[in-house]
Amino acid sequence: MPTPARLHVAHALHEVFGEKGRVPDIWDRELGEDAHLAQALLGLCLRRWGRLQAWVKPKLKDPDRGVPLGTQVALAVGLVQLAWLPGVSDHAAVNEAVELAATRDLGFVPHKGLVNAILRRAAKDRAALAAELDALPASLDRPAAAERALRAALAPHCAESDQETLWARLQQPPRLSFRLLEGEVPEGLEPDADLPGCLRLAEGAPFPRPWLESGAGMVQDRSSQALLAYAWERPVTRILDACAAPGGKTTTLALRHPGATLTALEVHPRRVARLRQTLQQRGLTAQVIQADAAEWLETNEATFDLILLDAPCSGSGTLQKHPEWPWLVHDDLPRLTGIQRRLLSAAASRLAPGGLLIYAVCSWLPEEGEAQRDWLAAARPDLNPAEVWPASFGGPTDGEGDHTAFFRPHPLRWEGEGFQAFAVARP
Ligand SMILES: C[S@@+](CC[C@H](N)C(=O)[O-])C[C@H]1O[C@@H](n2cnc3c(N)ncnc32)[C@H](O)[C@@H]1O
Repeated sequence: MPTPARLHVAHALHEVFGEKGRVPDIWDRELGEDAHLAQALLGLCLRRWGRLQAWVKPKLKDPDRGVPLGTQVALAVGLVQLAWLPGVSDHAAVNEAVELAATRDLGFVPHKGLVNAILRRAAKDRAALAAELDALPASLDRPAAAERALRAALAPHCAESDQETLWARLQQPPRLSFRLLEGEVPEGLEPDADLPGCLRLAEGAPFPRPWLESGAGMVQDRSSQALLAYAWERPVTRILDACAAPGGKTTTLALRHPGATLTALEVHPRRVARLRQTLQQRGLTAQVIQADAAEWLETNEATFDLILLDAPCSGSGTLQKHPEWPWLVHDDLPRLTGIQRRLLSAAASRLAPGGLLIYAVCSWLPEEGEAQRDWLAAARPDLNPAEVWPASFGGPTDGEGDHTAFFRPHPLRWEGEGFQAFAVARP
């Protein structure tokens, strides 16, 4: 039986390439010390999937027929270890992958011999294997969705020739960021020079699980932290977080505006439970309501001084953290942009005089950000762009002053998820 780490990786690969589903956030929670190996293995399998398949293809008896997913998974798991994980012995890399191939639900039993033969040959010269894989075109690991996200990320900021540089950066596992919620900076974490309250994991330091479990800090991407560092001086007494789970930004809003009442909406029941748990763990109070935010806003009279609409989106800006993203099906952009507009329109109608609305998506696609800003500007000319972020967060044409109403961090110079956000204020 393969080790739990390899079994978890195989499950995750089946989820992505079989079911076309995301890798769940806590997929490796039970793995303990082996989580590091599993994370490295899964990350490499996903980030090099196209090249791994291209390398295997000419070695098959009938290259055009291909092989079942179980065989692809077993081979990928074995090859990645042989090529790029020098700490794993030849024996462990080959035998465990062969056992994986022989596992009924995750492998493809008739191809046990084939997997064994290919991996044994590859194990004879691991450096040559790595060189052959690295020499294959990087574009093989970049299906159309990834190409599109890259072009969108670069368009406002840099030349298309920067595509390879950006792709290479996105292929590195992201360096984790945390938010200090209370107390001192714990050992192993370092303050981020550019973002007050943001902490980074020090080189070689262990994941700060006890500190996170104590409620003194949370994992939060740098872009989310920068987004919530908006400059806004007007009084804020009623806040709405319209799409709130799992509650990272709700937490920041509650701490930034401690005197305000906070309403947090979330449509999915399971995510509502997670949101409640987040707030409870951190000792924060909010009125949590399970509802479709558009319906709720359309049928309620309440108005707010600050509305955050962290809208459901394609997630194209998260592909560094989610290397499975390029391989999933992305045919629902029109549906998503429709939902975003309905939410935007409903949120804009509940803004109190003098109030601020921040719309955000973790996406580089212009349809989900820039186009939504322009659509709202046409639909609601009574709302004014609110320049609440440093100008460096916008694109080169997004304003000439010190501040911008459009948040779109530079994909090469900014370390953090791809985001687009805009802020409008009601006079
Ligand atoms: C981008 S995530 C929000 C992340 C959250 N703001 C945070 O920082 O932790 C979008 C959330 O909106 C929820 N959602 C999607 N459609 C919604 C709707 N119509 N009404 C309310 N919530 C919705 C999703 O379930 C998801 O939890």
